[in-house]
Amino acid sequence: MPANKKLLVLPGDGIGPEVMGEVRRVMDWMQVRRAVSFDVQEGLVGGAGIDADGTPCSDATVAAARQADAVLFGSVGGPKWDKLPFEQRPELGILRLRKELGLFANLRPALVLEPLAEASSLRADLVRGLDIMIVRESTGGIYFGEPRGISMNAAGKRVGIDTEVYTEDEIARVARVAFDLARNRRNKVTSVEKANVMQSGRLWRAVVGEVRAAEYPDVELENMYADNCAMQLASRPKQFDVILGSNLFGDLLSDLAAALTGSLGMLPSATLGAVGSDGRRHALYEPIHGSAPDIAGRGIANPCAQILSFAMLLRYSFGMVEDAAAIEGAVERVLASGLRTADIMQPGRARVGTAVMGEAVLRELEKHAS
Ligand code: IPM
Ligand code: MG
Repeated sequence: MPANKKLLVLPGDGIGPEVMGEVRRVMDWMQVRRAVSFDVQEGLVGGAGIDADGTPCSDATVAAARQADAVLFGSVGGPKWDKLPFEQRPELGILRLRKELGLFANLRPALVLEPLAEASSLRADLVRGLDIMIVRESTGGIYFGEPRGISMNAAGKRVGIDTEVYTEDEIARVARVAFDLARNRRNKVTSVEKANVMQSGRLWRAVVGEVRAAEYPDVELENMYADNCAMQLASRPKQFDVILGSNLFGDLLSDLAAALTGSLGMLPSATLGAVGSDGRRHALYEPIHGSAPDIAGRGIANPCAQILSFAMLLRYSFGMVEDAAAIEGAVERVLASGLRTADIMQPGRARVGTAVMGEAVLRELEKHAS
């Protein structure tokens, strides 16, 4: 039996705990049928953390995340905590984990599964076979830059300030992640910024170009203004392979790319740190969808993005490529069989809830297990 794999599971709020429940069943199945042993610890984050410990991400949760080989994150936030002061809101849970664990590279695949090509906001022929990887910088830029805050100017008027700031090292390390990924894909990186208006964008373009020239001359690099990229994504998305962008541009463009795939409820993501001297790398996996408070507690949420986040975890943190592919294949076959949760419902398909969808994935896994 392979060595224990230490996982920290943070279901969070809203539909997080519901969809995470389906992943726990996949984990249990793997322990029994694939003889993989996971050492799973569960923790609190977001609103659940606020209710229990008075903070969206306690020191204990950060410590447990540091200890773990990988973190599987659900989602945070909800109307219950909307009135809290800015410094206490649930979203700080994920931001603190990204920052403290140094999770600087956020990988957001936008993949159109064949059975869902018709569910896209675009014509099926424009998205059929779409496979984009967005690499978003996730510990820097305007999310964390100083100065920030709301203050009063000399005229007695309030001024809101955020700062977009990037060092060349921050740009270079996330660029390397994008180039490395491209080498195993279609070998093209589109780097986005606003070098036409922003100083940080000028530096971004220069540094990405330097990294490519010095280390990745074999990878095609295209520079594109972020606004143009949004337009291209919405009109001719298949031109892209890997898209590389800052924290903010990556946040925006990954939601847009997600819409092209038909449902946020299908998309996983990985956020990776640097490889340490001991060869370990902190990593957190989470679905792109949020806590969806409007449907929470009703048993109708789509568990696929959370299950696929677990597949990414197996692939990137444990190198378990076959198991990851088995889970991804099972999800795709369940969709092909016509089962749909409400978010991806189409005419003529069978509408099911969270548990039935999770069960169907298990059944497909079992069918194809050797
Ligand atoms: C995301 C989310 C977060 C972000 C929020 C919840 C802080 O939108 O992961 O894309 O802006 O990074
Ligand atoms: Mg976002």
